[in-house]
This record gives sequence, structure tokens and C-alpha cells, in this order.
Amino acid sequence: MAKLFSDTVINEVLDRSNIIDIVGGYVPLKRAGRNHKACCPFHPEKTASFIVSADKQIFHCFGCGAGGNALTFIMQYEKVNFREALEMLAQRSGIPLPEPEKTDFQRSKEDNSKKLYSLYEKAGTFYHSNLLNSPEGKTARAYLQKRGISKETARHFKLGYCLPGWETLIQDLKSKKEPLSIIESSGLVVSKDGGGYYDRFRNRIIFPICDIKERVVGFGARVMDDSLPKYINSPETPIYTKGKNLFGLNLARDFIRTLDQAIVVEGYLDMIVPFECGIKNIVASLGTALTADQIKLIKRFTSNIVMLYDSDLAGEMATLRALELLIKEDMNVRIALLPKGDDPDSFARKHGKDEFLNMISRAKPIFDYKFELLLSKYQANTSTGKDKIVKEILPTVKKFKNQTMRAECLKRIAEELWLNEGALFKDLEAAKEEYEDTGSDEQDFTSTAVGHYRLKEIPVTERMLVKLMLEELHIVDKLKNMIDPSDFVEEKLRKIVKFIFDFFGQGGVECKPNILMNYIDDEEAITLISELSALEIHDCPDKEKLIEDCVKRLKRDKVHYLRQEIYKEIQTAQSSGDDEALTRLMRQLDTLNKEYNSLDKQRSMVNG
Ligand code: UTP
Ligand code: MN
Repeated sequence: MAKLFSDTVINEVLDRSNIIDIVGGYVPLKRAGRNHKACCPFHPEKTASFIVSADKQIFHCFGCGAGGNALTFIMQYEKVNFREALEMLAQRSGIPLPEPEKTDFQRSKEDNSKKLYSLYEKAGTFYHSNLLNSPEGKTARAYLQKRGISKETARHFKLGYCLPGWETLIQDLKSKKEPLSIIESSGLVVSKDGGGYYDRFRNRIIFPICDIKERVVGFGARVMDDSLPKYINSPETPIYTKGKNLFGLNLARDFIRTLDQAIVVEGYLDMIVPFECGIKNIVASLGTALTADQIKLIKRFTSNIVMLYDSDLAGEMATLRALELLIKEDMNVRIALLPKGDDPDSFARKHGKDEFLNMISRAKPIFDYKFELLLSKYQANTSTGKDKIVKEILPTVKKFKNQTMRAECLKRIAEELWLNEGALFKDLEAAKEEYEDTGSDEQDFTSTAVGHYRLKEIPVTERMLVKLMLEELHIVDKLKNMIDPSDFVEEKLRKIVKFIFDFFGQGGVECKPNILMNYIDDEEAITLISELSALEIHDCPDKEKLIEDCVKRLKRDKVHYLRQEIYKEIQTAQSSGDDEALTRLMRQLDTLNKEYNSLDKQRSMVNG
């Protein structure tokens, strides 16, 4: 993992936080002997196989194999990266983190972004004052008035006007000592063929797009007549990526949180007009379909969404596309329907707040919306029509995890289309999920569980030795003289042992499993350490003897393993008639046999 903080800082944060408190903040823990137990938060289960150890400061699930320290727990539970997890842990434990160490590249990128934020702020202020005060702004003021936008609203949203002159913005920014290179990279001006620049948004009404921190990151700009294109938007810059912001979220976020619902509309005015009418939990997706990034933004404040797109074909398409993503993100979605010909802007102006809220409360669940849309699109009384409807609706039904819900949907389809419910159920089984998971950013427990190393597949001696090393520091030094990482047949353990030998035991650095995990850049190795540490070994009266036995058996197993490898090679040599290789291999086998026998004798002497 790429580290922005020093190991000392990371270890200190881990040392000063208690995994029981951290995990206990998410999962109800019960004391069980020396450990704490709970039902695993990473896979569905009824009996607790998830343990947290205060002694070792690790967690481990014997059911799905998940495991790690307080940091990896936060990473897995909150689905955040290492750095974010460290920040969260530090904050919870009340430890101030130093400023992360930055590379020159990061620093120059940040500088550049800072300059762009400041430039956009200045441009926004210039446009805004032109709208409110300039004589040329009269037409713009008249246009907004005609659309029912008051002066207060214009102030609230800091709406603006880009003057019709070709270079008013660029002159203003220059007079404010903004360097040309930044003005150029802002995308607010366009270069002319013969050299020089002109204002990209000239003679348009300006809608500033803010990020969640209230910084202006882009603009939308509308013409005041019927010419095309109706809107021009800011190009992408280091501070603005299309589909990553929601218009109005900076003003609506607290309302969305309190009301636990977000209304999503398409356009600037579709957000502004209802908002000013008193519908405060509203944001605009700007353009067509809602993106996954936008859904994640909303998810920070609520998981309830009402989609309110135009009731035209484009709106329907955009809604349908967003639905799949919304189900995937586990959002609770409903779709509100506007009367034909209305958009949220005109509806709010005509009917006011109460009617608007009424319409929102009548919003339909996904299935009803899609099914009714399909019923109106195809002829449900013909068999081809039925076929098409079923084909298009089943993938949506399949997306629902809830079985009762699935059954209800099928019942409804069967009733409306006069079809057999049992047959539909079979079709559902066969139906593919639409837009199947690319599985990229999703934490799917089954796939991680498969990836987890299962301990029982590892020779018991190897397990035991690593477990002992994890438990007691002083044996590491001793073992270093007796064994070599290459004695371990299991590759992951070999890696862990090499690691322990290289870094610990020297200079008295303690070999705590939770700290060790921070140094190993291998998820499987981490879960392996957690599992080994979590295992209880029965009290052993003579650890020295146990270690000795393990070392001997390790050596013997290694020789046994090598012998088996040689057998395989011998078989190949025999079948290919390679006599030279055969002689060499037989000699090697002989040496190994002798070695094995002598080790075996030692063992029986020890055992005897
Ligand atoms: P609409 O065409 O529905 O416009 O586009 P609107 O928001 O109702 O605008 P008014 O009421 O005519 O003023 C919806 C959204 O799609 C984007 C804009 O974000 C717009 O608000 N859009 C539309 C563009 O980016 N460019 C366009 O040319 C048109
Ligand atoms: Mn409109």
C-alpha cells in the first residue's frame, strides 16, 4: 500500500486505539473467554464465528476468513482506502495526524487546483455582478423575471450573466492579475484562430455549479432565446469532472439528511424553482442519466431517492438507466410522474409546494414504474407483446434480493398478462441480470472468501511455528538459527516468515500481529496472520520442546516434499527415456532418502 504517513505514525495510531472499541462501534460484541464474539459483518450468518481479540488486537472470522487489525477492519467495513481508514482511526482515538508527506507532483497539482478554485470564484462574482448591476444585464434580468426567478433567488444561487462583449471576462481576470496560463486552463475562454481569446459563455445566463464544499467548480450557461445549443457547460478541468457533481447539493444537503430523502431532477431550473417554492431536498443531475458517482454522493445523506424526470422519452430512458445503478447501490428508489408537458420547474410554478409534495408522495416503486411503462409500450394482449414485456421486466425483478418482493412481482405479471406464475418463475431463474456486475468496485464476500487462504490446507507444523513466532518474540531469534524461510513449503507462510526474520527480532521491535500486518503488502498474508493469531492453542507445558519438535518435523516434511518432487521428475525422465537425467535424479533421491532417514531417527529418539 502506498503510504503517505510514516510507519511510526501508523504504529502509534494502532497502538493507542483499542480494537474492541473500534469494532464494537459497528458490531455488538459479546465477551467469550479471552475474546469477544459477534455475528460476522462481512458475511451472512446466524451463529457467531467472528472473534475480536484484545490481547492480539486483531479480528478474525472463522466463517468467511476475513481478518486483520483495526485499520483493515475500518477499510473493509467502511469501504475506504488505507489513508481514509487511518484518518478515521486517528480521529476516533484522538491522535492528531501530521500533514501527509506529499510528492512534488501532488503539490503542483494541488497548487494548480487552488488557483482554479480561486479563478472560478472570481469569474462567478464577475458574472453575478454583471447580472445584478450592469446596464447590459437588463435583458438578462428581464429574461429571468419572465421565467419567474426573483432577485433573491438570483442572489441565493449566485446566478450571473456573461456580457455580450467578446472579452469582458478575460479583461476582468487580467486586471485582477490572474496569469494567462490559468485563465486558459480554466476553459472559461476559447482561443481564437488568429490568436487571442474570447469569452466562452458570452451573452448567456450563468448557473454556477458548486461542489459539496461550496466551491464553484463549473458553470452552465443558457441562451435567452431559442437558439442552439440551449446550454453550454464548463469543460472538464482538474477541479470539475462531468457526472461527479450534483447541482444544488451544497444548498440541499442538510435538508436531504433531515428529511431522509432526495428528489433528483434533470435541469438547473428544475432544481431552482421547486427549491424556492419550499421543496428543499432537491438536486439536479445535469444532463441525462444519474451516474454512479452522483448516487454515491447522495448516499452520504440518504438512501431514499425520488426520481423526477421529464415525462418524455428521453426522461424515461434516463430514469430507466439510472434505476439499474440505483438498485445496485442498494438505494430505495421511487419514481414520481409529472403530467405530460410539465417539467418540475413548470409544475412547481403552476401548482405550488403542496401539490408538488402530493405528487412526490404518489411516486411509484421501481417495479410498478417499469411494468406500467412496458404495458403502455407493448400490446399486452398479443403473445409477442407479452413476450417482450416479460423479457424486459424479468432482469429488473431478478435484481431484487428480497424473495417475497420477487414473488409479488411475478404474481402481478402473471395477473396482468394472464400467464402462468410457475412458468414465470422458471423464466426468472433463467433470466440474466441486466448490466451484469463488472465486479470492479464491489466488495463481494463470496469472491473474497474464495480468495482467502484456508488454514486447513497448510501443513500443521508450518502453521504451528508461525503461530508460535507471532505469540512470542524471543523465539524468533532462536528460530532464525534453526530454520530458513525456504523450509516452508507453503508460499504465503514462507513470505511471512521471511518478513518476520528480516524485520523483527532485530533491535527489539515487537512482533505484534496487528503491527506486522501493516508492513505486509499482501491481503491473503494478512488474513492468514489474523487466522493464525486468532487460533487458540491448548496450554502447552513445554514450549521449548514443542518448538524443537516442530523444527524437526518441518525439516523432515521439507525433505519429504523434495522427495516427492524428485519422484515426479523421475517419472518424466523414465517416460521420455532420458537416461542421463534419470541417473542424476536417482542419485539425488538417494541423498534425500538418507537425509530423511536420519531425521526420522532423530524424531523417534525425541519421541521415544
Ligand atoms: P432541458 O432541455 O430539459 O432543459 O435539459 P431545462 O433544464 O428544462 O431548461 P429550460 O427550462 O429550458 O431553461 C435538462 C438539462 O440538460 C442539460 C442542462 O443541464 C439542462 O438543465 N442540457 C440541456 C445541456 O447541458 N445542454 C443542452 O443543450 C440542453
Ligand atoms: Mn425546463
